[in-house]
Amino acid sequence: MRHLVCLRYLADFWFLAAGIVNKQMIKGVTTMSQKDIINWDDSSIHIPNMPKARQVKVWDILVRVTHWTIAAGIIANLLFTEDSSELHEYVGYTVLGLVVVRLLWGLVGTRYARFTSFFPTPTRLKRHLSALSVRRVDEQHLGHNPSAALMMLSLWAVIIGLGITGYLMDAAIFSNIELLGDKDFLEEIHELLANSLYLLVPLHIIAAIAMSYWQRQNLIKSMITGKKTVTDKPSTMK
Ligand code: HEM
Ligand code: HEM
Repeated sequence: MRHLVCLRYLADFWFLAAGIVNKQMIKGVTTMSQKDIINWDDSSIHIPNMPKARQVKVWDILVRVTHWTIAAGIIANLLFTEDSSELHEYVGYTVLGLVVVRLLWGLVGTRYARFTSFFPTPTRLKRHLSALSVRRVDEQHLGHNPSAALMMLSLWAVIIGLGITGYLMDAAIFSNIELLGDKDFLEEIHELLANSLYLLVPLHIIAAIAMSYWQRQNLIKSMITGKKTVTDKPSTMK
């Protein structure tokens, strides 16, 4: 592998000397962390100006498994389980537990799973929105882009709210303990939170499909395989 990388740098040096590849493209290659590069597309013929594609591991197994299990649990509780049934409660608590695990992983997990890599600070949001306005893919965000991150934080918050109101409702019904208002009030909040998912989840799915189309990057497949395709050239949108 080291030899292949050395050969590639030599080839890039040659092309640079010949004026075929611009400095920006070389910079794009050298700033990639070697650890991230898992599959170089080392075809024997290098076509000038043809961006080289490689696969980068972005989503680790924990992110992928928690995502699809949380999604399945939420869809089950919204559409299929009987309200206030035992199954509904087990599914709800499982989803809540998975969100807690995912949030802890956001503190100690792999590079793109960490909040520090995707937390939507005002600066990141501004840069992302201005990149979108000129139809450029904001290359800073190989993980969640800042507007996706806002959606993720909202989804996590609503799911935690559902788990807590569900628990408190249960306590109010079965133990007569009214920790945060009576059963009817908690039920209203639980229902309100569940209804907000009917809005957020379809929005999230539409955004994932739309961004996949615009960025020419299948984000849904990336959430399954964990890999994203990166090219040397800054990408423009469709
Ligand atoms: C109830 C259903 C769903 C919920 C609650 C949900 C929630 C989430 C959350 C919390 C994340 C962040 C993942 C993480 O960092 O750990 C995420 C990411 C993602 N979800 Fe979902 N999701 C749902 C369904 C779906 C479905 C059906 C699709 C596909 C059609 C999908 C596609 C994606 C994609 C592509 C990402 C990564 C976006 C990116 O690359 O930044 N989700 N989702
Ligand atoms: C985390 C995902 C959850 C989702 C998406 C969800 C969704 C829902 C929905 C849509 C309803 C029907 C609301 C209505 O129209 O009245 C409902 C009711 C209910 N949920 Fe959940 N829930 C979740 C978690 C929980 C948990 C963890 C518990 C408790 C342990 C719980 C306990 C209940 C109860 C007792 C009702 C019936 C309220 C009534 O008396 O009408 N839920 N839930």
